[in-house]
Amino acid sequence: MIELRGVRKAFGRKVVLEDVTLEVRDGETLAVIGYSGVGKSVLLKTIVGLLHPDAGSVRVDGAEVPALRRAELYELRRRIGYVFQFAALFDSMTVFDNVAMGLRRIGTLAPDEIERRVTDALERVEMAGYEARYPAELSGGQRKRVGLARAVATRPKYLLYDEPTTGLDPVTTTVIDRLIQKMAEELKVTSVVITHDMTSAFRIADRIAMLYHGRIRFVGTPEETGATMDPVVRGFIEGRPELAQGAA
Ligand SMILES: Nc1ncnc2c1ncn2[C@@H]1O[C@H](COP(=O)(O)OP(=O)(O)O)[C@@H](O)[C@H]1O
Ligand SMILES: [Mg+2]
Repeated sequence: MIELRGVRKAFGRKVVLEDVTLEVRDGETLAVIGYSGVGKSVLLKTIVGLLHPDAGSVRVDGAEVPALRRAELYELRRRIGYVFQFAALFDSMTVFDNVAMGLRRIGTLAPDEIERRVTDALERVEMAGYEARYPAELSGGQRKRVGLARAVATRPKYLLYDEPTTGLDPVTTTVIDRLIQKMAEELKVTSVVITHDMTSAFRIADRIAMLYHGRIRFVGTPEETGATMDPVVRGFIEGRPELAQGAA
C-alpha cells in the first residue's frame, strides 16, 4: 500500500502540494487527474523518493520513504516501476539496452537471465523483435511501450505512470490503456496513472483522484466520479473549468 498523509511540497515560495492525503490500495489502479501544473508529477516523484516533502508522511509498504537510506531507497525503487512522461529513453542505446538498464543495475542477474527478462517484458508490450532498434526509429506509441517494458522488466509490485498517453492519437491511446490494464491483471501490479485524459481515466481506473490547489479534491470510483456534483470535478471532466468559478 502507498499512503500519503498531509504531504506538503513547496519550491521556494511556490507551494505546490499543500496538504495531500491519499491512499493507493494493493491491487488497484488509481488514476490521478488534474490540470497541468497542479503538481501531479511532483506527487509521483515524492512516492519514489526523487523529491522530499517538506512535511507529512509518504509510506510505501509501511516504510517512510523520505527517511530511507540510500541503499533502502534503491531497494524500494526496484519494487516500483516508473514510466516517465515522454518515455525518457536513451537515444544512444538500443531498445534491448534501454529495457535491460534497470536489470543490470540490480547487479546480481546473470546475462542470460537479463536477456530472458528483457524478452519477456518486450513480449508483454508487443514489441518483440525490436531489440536492436534505436528509439529514433520508433513511433511515439512504440517508445511509450518500450518505456513500459523497462518499468516492468524488474517485476515491480507498483507501476507509476506519468501521463502515459499524452501526445498520442486516440487509437494509440487505446493500445496503451489496454496495456496498462493488461499489466495490472497479468502482473497483479498496483498502479498509479497520472493523466489528464478523462476517457483513459474512466477506462482504466478502479478509482479516480483529483488533485486541485494542493489537495486531493475528490476520490471515487468512475461511477462516483461521473455522478459527482462537485463543480470543480465536473468542470474538469466536462472540459468546462468555468463551472468551478466561485466554488469553495
Ligand atoms: N524541481 C522543481 N523545481 C522547481 N519547481 C518545480 C520543480 N518540479 C516541479 N516544479 C513546479 O511545480 C509545479 C507542479 O509541477 P508538476 O508536478 O510538473 O505539474 P503537473 O501536474 O503538470 O505534472 C509547477 O509549477 C512546476 O514548475
Ligand atoms: Mg506532469
